[in-house]
Amino acid sequence: TEEEKEKILRSIRTIPDFPKPGIQFKDITTLLNNPEALKLLMDHLEARYRDYELDYVAGIEARGFVFGSVLADRLGIGFVPVRKKGKLPYTTVSEKYSLEYGFDEVEIHIDAFGEGGMCREHPAKVLLIDDLIATGGTAAAAARLIGKVGAECVECCFVLELSFLKGREGIDAPVYSVITL
Ligand code: PRP
Ligand code: MG
Repeated sequence: TEEEKEKILRSIRTIPDFPKPGIQFKDITTLLNNPEALKLLMDHLEARYRDYELDYVAGIEARGFVFGSVLADRLGIGFVPVRKKGKLPYTTVSEKYSLEYGFDEVEIHIDAFGEGGMCREHPAKVLLIDDLIATGGTAAAAARLIGKVGAECVECCFVLELSFLKGREGIDAPVYSVITL
């Protein structure tokens, strides 16, 4: 409900000028340490995705790990980390994305969703999750990674969307956000 979304939103703290002047940083630590708000959020996501017949939840480092792991456990499926370059120990596939200055790179294990991305005779159905979508560069690259290893990105899910940055337009999958700012 709108009232529940309002409670979730109010649990998120805004820090002005972090990490640089002019940025209004959305601090989700105050959502994570608030059991009522966290439960409202996770109940909402669990209800939404229960009938998607997902095979995995993939979370984007670092804050996507928290929401993704809780959701995967609630849905009774596995969790897959999408990590910043150089952190994963086994064979990886990687994707670059541009930042304000330069670029960054995310990686996934080549067999994270099974051999060739196949799960029980079909391409694994994967939900991608992160705390926030801004320009959408990170999530777009992560969604491409899921396709690259042979699985299917069924939807990209965010707790917060900064809609004025139009990040969803660059993502080649349906996008759902709990709260749009
Ligand atoms: C933030 C946020 C998203 C991403 C969104 O993560 O958690 O992952 O930026 O930005 P974009 O839509 O413009 O790509 P950050 O890269 O700061 O790293 P962290 O989650 O590890 O703190
Ligand atoms: Mg992040």
